[in-house]
Amino acid sequence: MKVYGWIAITICMVICLNPCICLEETDEGNCNIYEGSWVYDESYPLYDSSKCPHIRLEYDCLKYGRTDKEYLKYRWQPTNCNLSSFDGKSFLTKFKGKQIMYIGDSVSLNQWQSFICMLHSILPNATVTQVDGEPITNHTFQEYGVSVIVYHSTYLVDIEVEKIGRVLKLDSLKGGNIWKEMDVLVFNTWLWWYRSGPKQPWDYIQIGDKIVKDMDRMEAFKTGLTTWAKWVDTDVDTTKTKVLFQGISPMHYHGEEWNEPGVTNCAKETTPINGLSSTSGLPKASYVLESVLEKITKHVHLLNITALSELRKDGHPSSHNGFHGMDCTHWCVAGVPDTWNLLLLESIMN
Ligand SMILES: *[C@@H]1O[C@H](CO)[C@@H](O)[C@H](O)[C@H]1NC(C)=O
Ligand SMILES: *[C@@H]1O[C@H](CO)[C@@H](O)[C@H](O)[C@H]1NC(C)=O
Ligand SMILES: *[C@@H]1O[C@H](CO)[C@@H](O)[C@H](O)[C@H]1NC(C)=O
Ligand SMILES: *[C@@H]1O[C@H](CO)[C@@H](O)[C@H](O)[C@H]1NC(C)=O
Repeated sequence: MKVYGWIAITICMVICLNPCICLEETDEGNCNIYEGSWVYDESYPLYDSSKCPHIRLEYDCLKYGRTDKEYLKYRWQPTNCNLSSFDGKSFLTKFKGKQIMYIGDSVSLNQWQSFICMLHSILPNATVTQVDGEPITNHTFQEYGVSVIVYHSTYLVDIEVEKIGRVLKLDSLKGGNIWKEMDVLVFNTWLWWYRSGPKQPWDYIQIGDKIVKDMDRMEAFKTGLTTWAKWVDTDVDTTKTKVLFQGISPMHYHGEEWNEPGVTNCAKETTPINGLSSTSGLPKASYVLESVLEKITKHVHLLNITALSELRKDGHPSSHNGFHGMDCTHWCVAGVPDTWNLLLLESIMN
């Protein structure tokens, strides 16, 4: 057995000395699908959102009065290659019997919602079951046995209620035993790390034996992510389970980022920012995320949506949502998250 193992390793090494074959081993060959531009495409959007069952009131922009529709018409065009067009049937066929799980805050819910709508547009009469719960909502396409699941977790690491109050435990990750059984995992966390005051869902932070009232939030984010990264390295069999981390989803509350100083939300935005990048550069959290991902020895794919989404100041609900708050954090469905899912499919289908 050992001998065969060594032969296999030797063959692999020989093959990988050939750069053409090695490139095929990476997700996108030599094309960076995250570098490109938004182009106007008459055939967009991918689906009619009014036909998608149960879009959550936070994301259903057309239903809640958005009248400009140009924001639905943009397709992401990588500079050096083309994205595959959406083929929901081949996804469901290829992933027959499998489970894909989005894990994170409401931005994960946003992306899950978009994917459900994309699949429904292809299979409007499919038999589906949806089991709603906390933390898991499980949407299953019965004919294919494919489950598209969202697991609500604001920080990935745990919050536990103890005598002293709610404790955010930066080095504890209990959801992992469920997650690692999935076939595809798409993680995301960021939104809540800076919440303070009444919206902050914890009273203390704990690392090891140390309990503190508060700490530098970027440091806390890095510590929590590192716990997650160690979990991937020790617990996840990445030959069985594909692991992706979604890059930081940008917000649009600061007009100076798109050369309109004084503007404090996205209410009047109907077109993307022109050009390849906004003036603000990537959010600091992106660099923290990248530095943590670099240290993981197992294969984790960065679903690098930050820069391309920064251009989409027009993609948010603003006041067109069911709770009538100003929301330049989440994204309309249909809209930008459909592109995130196309990019996700590009990296898990090949
Ligand atoms: C993510 O994509 C942007 C835009 O193409 C790029 O500038 C950045 O370096 C990428 N990040 C990583 C870690 O590849
Ligand atoms: C992308 O698609 C366009 C239009 O169909 C085609 O002209 C072009 O050659 C394609 N590019 C690549 C890299 O395949
Ligand atoms: C779905 O069912 C409706 C009503 O039975 C039918 O009109 C429609 O053609 C079906 N659509 C597909 C794609 O099978
Ligand atoms: C999701 O639902 C399917 C079908 O009922 C089930 O087989 C699967 O175990 C569920 N997954 C989770 C994580 O609850």
